[in-house]
Amino acid sequence: MNIDKILKELTLEEKASLCSGSDFWHTEEIKRLDIPSIMVSDGPHGLRKMRDDTDNPNEAIKAVCFPCACALACSFDRKLLTTLGKALGEECQAEDVSVILGPGCNIKRSPLCGRNFEYFSEDPYLASQLATAHIKGVQSKGVGTSLKHFAMNNQETRRMSYSANVDERTFHEIYLSAFETPVKEAKPWTVMCSYNRINGEYSSQNKLLLTDILRNEWGYEGLVVSDWGAVDDRPLGIAAGLDLEMPTSNGKNDELIIEAVNNGSLSMKDLDKAVRNVLTLIQKAEDGYAPATKWDKEKQHELAGKIESECAVLLKNDDKILPLDKSAKIAFIGEFADKPRYQGGGSSHINSFKVTSALEAVKGMDNITYAQGFVTDRDETVDELLDEAVELAKNSDVAVIFAGLPESFESEGFDRKHMRMPDCQLKLIDEVAKVNKNVVIVLHNGSAVEMPFADKVNGILEMYLGGQNIGTAEKALLFGEANPSGKLAETFPEKLSHNPSYLNFPGNMDDVDYAEGIFVGYRYYDEKGIKPLFPFGHGLSYTTFEYSNLTVSENEIKDDKTLTVMVDVTNTGDRDGMEIVQLYVSDKESSVRRPVRELKGFEKLFLKAGETKKAVFHLDKRSFAYYEPDIHDWFVEYGEFIIEAGSSSRDIRLSTSVYVSSDTKLPVHFTLNTTCGEINSIPEGRAMFENILSKIDCDFGDTASDDLGASAKEMMEAMIRDMPLRTLVTFTNVPDITRAKMSEMVENLNEMLAEK
Ligand code: BGC
Repeated sequence: MNIDKILKELTLEEKASLCSGSDFWHTEEIKRLDIPSIMVSDGPHGLRKMRDDTDNPNEAIKAVCFPCACALACSFDRKLLTTLGKALGEECQAEDVSVILGPGCNIKRSPLCGRNFEYFSEDPYLASQLATAHIKGVQSKGVGTSLKHFAMNNQETRRMSYSANVDERTFHEIYLSAFETPVKEAKPWTVMCSYNRINGEYSSQNKLLLTDILRNEWGYEGLVVSDWGAVDDRPLGIAAGLDLEMPTSNGKNDELIIEAVNNGSLSMKDLDKAVRNVLTLIQKAEDGYAPATKWDKEKQHELAGKIESECAVLLKNDDKILPLDKSAKIAFIGEFADKPRYQGGGSSHINSFKVTSALEAVKGMDNITYAQGFVTDRDETVDELLDEAVELAKNSDVAVIFAGLPESFESEGFDRKHMRMPDCQLKLIDEVAKVNKNVVIVLHNGSAVEMPFADKVNGILEMYLGGQNIGTAEKALLFGEANPSGKLAETFPEKLSHNPSYLNFPGNMDDVDYAEGIFVGYRYYDEKGIKPLFPFGHGLSYTTFEYSNLTVSENEIKDDKTLTVMVDVTNTGDRDGMEIVQLYVSDKESSVRRPVRELKGFEKLFLKAGETKKAVFHLDKRSFAYYEPDIHDWFVEYGEFIIEAGSSSRDIRLSTSVYVSSDTKLPVHFTLNTTCGEINSIPEGRAMFENILSKIDCDFGDTASDDLGASAKEMMEAMIRDMPLRTLVTFTNVPDITRAKMSEMVENLNEMLAEK
C-alpha cells in the first residue's frame, strides 16, 4: 500500500469515513483505492469474535477462555504472559482477526472496581511488565493489540462521564507508568483511550494524554482508537490525537469532520495524520496476515489449565493441610466445584468451547463426594443444601469448599458495593468449619474479598477467575501434582474501609478525587502501618525457600548508570517449586513523601528440591526516581537507597543499600514569599540570610530565651522558619531593609544559582 499516494487520492469524505468503523468490529473499506477493511475483536484473555451468522455483536464464536488478568498477574511471569499472547495471536490469525482488544493495564485503585478482573495489579511496575510481555506475544504472530483503557479508567460507575481528578505526580508515577513501558517496549499496534475524563477533559479529546505524553514524550507511532462510544467532540478528538472512532457513528461524526475541515476549525494536516495512522494499521494487518495458521483448541485448553496452575495463590496452609492425601475421604462442597466461575462479565466474556470443573477433573476418584451447599443465582441459604453439605463434611476427613463471587457480584459496567462474599456462602463455611477442623477454601473471584472465615479454616487457595480449564489446575494444586507458585498482585485488606480510596470511591457524581495520591495499594498500607489480611506479593508454596548473598554491583552510582543486584535463592524443602523473588527500593531520606517501599524488580525461579539459583536484577534511574512536578520529569534525589529482596512486600528477607546521585538539579527560584527556612536550606541562601540578620542586629536563635519555656521557644523558631521574606521586611524597623532591597537580594541570589 502506498500510503502517501493514497492520501493524495482520497477525497475529504473518504478520509472522514476512514476515521470511524464501518460497523461494530470493522474498519471502513474503500474499494476504489483497494483499501480493505480489517476486523478487531475482544478481548484480553480469549477471542470474542462475533459470529458471521449474527448481527448481535455479543454473539461470539466458540473459543478458549484463558485465566483473566487478575489471575495471570499472580504468576509474576513474563514468559508465561508471552506464551499466552502467542496462543491468542494464533487464534486471531486462524479466525482472521487483525487486532485483539487488550490487554487492560489500568491500576486497581479500589477492590470494588467491577472490572478489576481484567486488570493486572495495584502496582504500576508489575502491571507494565506483564502487559509488555502479553503484547509482545500477540504481536509476534503478526496480530495487533490494543493497550487499554488509556487512562485513569479505575472504576465502572459513571465510566463514560466521570472526571478522574489527579495531581501531576500521581498521574505519572502510578497511573501513566503502567502504560509507559508497554508503549515504549512492546509498541502495541493500537492504544485504546478510556471513556472517562481526566482533570475535566475526555480522554478521547485529551491532547495532553494522546499527543503530548503518548506520542511526543513516549514516542508512540501506532494508532489510537476510542473505547466503544467514548467519543465526545469528534473533530476535537482528531486534533488531539484520536485516530479511529469505534464502533461506527453511522456517519454522523464523519459529517462533523467534513464540516470542521470545511470551516477551518480542523486542519487537513491533522485529519491526514489520523488517516495515515489508520492506513498504517491496515497495512500492518495485511503484512501480518497468515490465514493458514493452525489453531488447536484442545491444546489451548490444556495450556489454559497449565497457565492457571502457575497463577493460583496459596494464601494459607496451616498444618500443611495441602496438598491433600489422595486416599483421604474428601468432601467437595459448593456450586463452583461443579460450575466454576472462571471469567468475568462484559466485553471480555468468552464463549468457551468447553469447561473443565474440579468435579470433572477428579472423576474416577471414588474417595471424593460432592454437595452443592449453596446457590449462585441469589444470595439465599437453601436449608436442604446447607444441611446436606454439613452432613457430608461431618463424615469426611477434609472439606474443600469451592466458594467466591457469583457473576452478579462483579462485572464490567458496574462496581461492587462492598467487598463481602455472599452471606449464604459465609454461613456455609461457618457451619462446615463447626463440624470439621480440616477445611480448605478454594476461591473464585475477580478481585479481593473480605474473609471473615480466614481464622476458622486451615487452607485458602485463591484461583481468581482461572479460565475454562480451572478444574484441572485445581485438582493438580490440591493434590500436589503442581506446586502453588502465584503471589498476590494486589493487597487483600482486612476490610474495605482500610482501602486508601475508601472515602473517594466511586466519587461525588462526576468528580472522583484521587485524594490518596501515590499511596495506592501496598504503598498506603505500608505507610499507614495497617496490617492487611494478605499483603501484596504474598503466596505460599509446598516447599520452602531461603535467601542469601544479596549483592549490589556498586556502592555508589550516578542515575544514568544501571545497578546490578543479585540474590541467591535455595529451595530448602523436599519438593521442586517456583519462587517469585521481589525487589523493593526505597529512598532512605527523601525531601518529598515517598512510599516505604516500591516494587522495582521481580524474577520467578524454578528450583528443584535442594537447588540454589541466582536472581539477577538491573535497576536504572526509574527504579530510584520519583516524578517531580517542578521539572515535569522523573528525578532522583541524591542519597542512600535501601534495596530489599523479599518473598512478599511484608516478608523482606535481605536488604542492602546504595548511594545514588544525579546531575539533574531542581530549579530553585526564590521570591519575596519564600520563607526564611527555605532560604536557609541552601548554603548560598544561608549566607544571604545571615547578612540580613547582621543588619537587623538581632540573633533570632537567642530570641527564644529559656525563660519563655520549651514550647514558646519552639513556636518562635517555627515562626521565623516559616516567615516569608516580605514579612521579615515589615517586622523589622531597620530602615535599610526595604521591600525593594530585599527583592534585589533575592534576584541576585536567583542569578547566582542559575549560573551554577
Ligand atoms: C470496553 C472495551 C471493549 C469494547 C469493545 C467497551 O465497552 O470498555 O474494553 O474492548 O467495549 O467490546
